[in-house]
Amino acid sequence: MIGLKVPKKEANQLRLLLLEHKILDRNFKIKRSLDYVFIPLLERPGMDLMKNESLQVVDTEFEEAKRSPRSMEEYLEGQIPAEKMEDLKKSFDIIGEVVILEIPEELEGEKKAIAEAALKFTKRRSVYRKGSEVKGTTRTRELEHLAGEDLSETTHQEFGTRIMLDVKNVYFSPRLATERRIVTDQVKEGEVVLDMFTGVGPFALSIARNHQVKVYATDINPMAIFYLKRNLEINKLQERVIPLEGDVKEILEGLDLRFDRIIMNLPGSAREFLPVALEHLKSGGVVHYYQFSRDMDDPIQSIKNSAKDRQVEILDKRKVKSTRPGEWHVAVDARIC
Ligand SMILES: C[S@@+](CC[C@H](N)C(=O)[O-])C[C@H]1O[C@@H](n2cnc3c(N)ncnc32)[C@H](O)[C@@H]1O
Repeated sequence: MIGLKVPKKEANQLRLLLLEHKILDRNFKIKRSLDYVFIPLLERPGMDLMKNESLQVVDTEFEEAKRSPRSMEEYLEGQIPAEKMEDLKKSFDIIGEVVILEIPEELEGEKKAIAEAALKFTKRRSVYRKGSEVKGTTRTRELEHLAGEDLSETTHQEFGTRIMLDVKNVYFSPRLATERRIVTDQVKEGEVVLDMFTGVGPFALSIARNHQVKVYATDINPMAIFYLKRNLEINKLQERVIPLEGDVKEILEGLDLRFDRIIMNLPGSAREFLPVALEHLKSGGVVHYYQFSRDMDDPIQSIKNSAKDRQVEILDKRKVKSTRPGEWHVAVDARIC
């Protein structure tokens, strides 16, 4: 095969140039002698490149490069018809050792091949397919096991926090990591915080790891509270977080407490919890309110309606993630005086 013989000191610049011209053969390894470097080529370089007299095209042997595929598509080459590749949603969630894929109906026949590719590509332990939207009070979804071990309990790392959970029995989204960071960064030392819909506790854990605070963390799903308790042990945060199982409305009835900050991450129905949340928010306290919405006005109006005569200062508003075309999971941070 052909290669370009290049003086050593010019090799790197030439390699980049050949890459740019798309004629470097990446299936073979570059080789070196004492003074020269030999770069494998897909074709002869044009005259523009060969103007440099120190370069020479030579006939030589190269060792094959063991290159790992760079994408799921590369893994699936030859296994899925090219026209169907378009239907494959290339985004997937990785939660600890678990991969969760979205595979459309049209690719039902190819689901095993896709899952095996995901297993190899991500080097994780288990691959599941989303079997439904998140639904019901506990916001969990059906999952279909497709490849690797059928082990849905795993430990995820988020900015140094270890979060143990069972993807089949609790809600957890790694896509909210930045949002948790944004909220955590607003917390002040000494605050008393309520995480109304804590799940396995990612907001509560992040806040408690980074601040000297007391966090009351409530959830109606017993499995979520089970894992929250494990997570408090794992992250040694038992002193800072109080896990409470049950309907937050009922829990609050029995708690004679007012909070500096309340997190309301139940975007499908947080609106109905706003009155009770604001009742338990100190004057000057901050609410982090989440809602599925097509705009920012609606969630802001919901907060203002529930605040009644209290003064509302909107500190920030942002789109957390897209949910469906034209709709967002939005966040509003508001100070209520
Ligand atoms: C969207 S998840 C959010 C979990 C967590 N904040 C996170 O970011 O991973 C909403 C959580 O609210 C809980 N939940 C729903 N209704 C509730 C209620 N009335 N009282 C307490 N928790 C509730 C669900 O069990 C679920 O874990």
